[in-house]
Amino acid sequence: MNTTLHLRQVREADKEVLCSIRQDALMLDALMSYPDPEPIGRDAAEGWIKARQMDATRVVRSIADDKDRAVGYVQITGQHGKGRFAWFAIALAREAQGKGLGADAMKLLMAFACDELQLRKLLCEVRTDNSRAIRLYTRLGFSTVGTLARHYLDLSGHWRDVNIMERMLP
Ligand SMILES: CC(C)(COP(=O)(O)OP(=O)(O)OC[C@H]1O[C@@H](n2cnc3c(N)ncnc32)[C@H](O)[C@@H]1OP(=O)(O)O)[C@@H](O)C(=O)NCCC(=O)NCCS
Repeated sequence: MNTTLHLRQVREADKEVLCSIRQDALMLDALMSYPDPEPIGRDAAEGWIKARQMDATRVVRSIADDKDRAVGYVQITGQHGKGRFAWFAIALAREAQGKGLGADAMKLLMAFACDELQLRKLLCEVRTDNSRAIRLYTRLGFSTVGTLARHYLDLSGHWRDVNIMERMLP
């Protein structure tokens, strides 16, 4: 897709897209959010967005396209004051996946983490079967520094290994 992305604060108009992500059990399973097997209601999805916006320890930003429409979100958690590292997560709406937008969004996230949050390192946890995410992060300079064995219990009841990946920021 030929679009220029930017990160910005979550707005009311983003809720449709962000809720479509937070109501998608398979997506939440990729994000290791332990979704319930029952369908996820709109209220719960909106509650998640609201809680994240109120939580000063987390930074959530919408990924928006050149028409300023949200196509996904990024989240930074666990910022360490002295260590200047933090954990990130990224999720693109299904219709925005597979078009190369992940790389652009990750570059924006790294620049934001470095320039605005003064972080010096980003880390993430990623299921070892999430080949697309691992390939993306590796291409952007992240390395796998360890694997947590049988760490995440997925929606189908299987324990999944989880890689820890990290990258120093400039
Ligand atoms: C993970 C995510 C951010 C990737 O963004 P994206 O724009 O969809 O990624 P791309 O289509 O550019 O694919 C990234 C790379 O993986 C490759 N890839 C795609 N599907 C793949 C698959 N099934 N197996 C292996 N590699 C795959 C692509 O070819 C590309 O590699 P390349 O740049 O060398 O060609 C996005 O798919 C997403 O939000 N997924 C759901 C939530 C999620 O899993 N988040 C990460 C949790 S840690």
